[in-house]
Amino acid sequence: MTKNVAGELAGLELPVERGCPFAPPTAYERLREQAPINKVRLTSGGEAWWVSGHEEGRAVLADGRFSSDKRKDGFPLFTLDAATLQQLRSQPPLMLGMDGAEHSAARRPVIGEFTVRRLAALRPRIQDIVDHFIDDMLAADQRPVDLVQALSLPVPSLVICELLGVPYADHDFFQSLTTMMVSRTSLEGRRRAFAELRAYIDDLVTRKESEPGDDLFGRQIARQRQEGTLDHAGLVSLAFLLLTAGHETTANMISLGVVGLLSHPEQLALITADPGKTPMAVEELLRYFTIADGVTSRLATEDVEISGVSIQAGEGVIVSGLSANWDPAAFKDPAELDVERGARHHLAFGFGPHQCLGQNLARMELQIVFDTLFRCIPALRLAVPGGDLPFKRDAVIYGVHELPVTW
Ligand code: HEM
Repeated sequence: MTKNVAGELAGLELPVERGCPFAPPTAYERLREQAPINKVRLTSGGEAWWVSGHEEGRAVLADGRFSSDKRKDGFPLFTLDAATLQQLRSQPPLMLGMDGAEHSAARRPVIGEFTVRRLAALRPRIQDIVDHFIDDMLAADQRPVDLVQALSLPVPSLVICELLGVPYADHDFFQSLTTMMVSRTSLEGRRRAFAELRAYIDDLVTRKESEPGDDLFGRQIARQRQEGTLDHAGLVSLAFLLLTAGHETTANMISLGVVGLLSHPEQLALITADPGKTPMAVEELLRYFTIADGVTSRLATEDVEISGVSIQAGEGVIVSGLSANWDPAAFKDPAELDVERGARHHLAFGFGPHQCLGQNLARMELQIVFDTLFRCIPALRLAVPGGDLPFKRDAVIYGVHELPVTW
């Protein structure tokens, strides 16, 4: 039987600010209790289906009848401003916005770079990078230290340098631009950093084309040459996608993970007593904060029925990963941060064909950071009450702007 669960439009103007920094907006729970799929109003105009249930979220994200192409009319764009959308429309699509066979063709050649086996080779370098920044923190002559600048931002930036094969001599330059790109500097400053980074990556790809090494680019270039499909612009876009998708996300998750653990000392004690539990703790922290809520938006290309709700072709659908990750049907007592719960079925990395390509890398970075930080600085604590931290309440990627810590 087909039914439209939302008899009348549910009152949710998106995006909604997180009121309590550790919980989804209260409106999310109200909506989920009303129905796992509701129609909501968008701040950008129009309406879309809001999917709050875990099971329903997975059903949408796994269904090829929903498109990821943000350039299509009717796509629910509450996370993008007009300028970003214009930029998106003026550039060739990235894998994130492709569908079907085109998407598989873009994703397949790079999957091998992100397998657990391939990434294991990066582990010692990531450990060195984390050790280096923690040593610098310990050597700082002033406290509190802002963990965002001291650790959360530089670690993923340098890890991406490793991944892309950025020469060591360029690391400082690369890192200062990536920091500027995601910091609270003026829009003009961020635009300049963005343009400079793009020019740098373009030049890096050119250098790699003449001297391909044994790194991600080297392997992509060798394969494309063999197939006669060398695509300079495509390689530049791929590098940029990995940078933009992997830097700010991981940085915010490092910061929030530290806030979450320091605010729940009994949970932190479980992983410091047994670091074997850190991988499980990482999954739970990813679930609990779900920093990239709502990026998993889609457009129905055909009429589809999900859990009895009839979604028409041309209608927008927003899967709220945060709401799904707090769905009591999938996670008992979701408001409890429980590092032993086994939360790996969370939707923090999405689900289905677009599920995060860099998830194993992000997991490895988070595990190394939490293990090393709390081992090297066991007395680490927040330098201000948790509630006073400057949370990015209405940002697309949730996090904190600053994280003063001391010990
Ligand atoms: C904690 C850190 C991260 C979070 C929470 C996160 C979250 C996500 C989510 C929710 C998606 C799915 C988007 C959709 O379905 O439309 C996604 C896709 C993606 N992520 Fe991540 N991500 C993280 C780290 C990374 C890293 C480290 C990289 C690479 C260096 C990366 C690269 C990508 C790429 C390339 C896609 C697009 C995949 C595709 O379209 O097939 N991410 N990520």
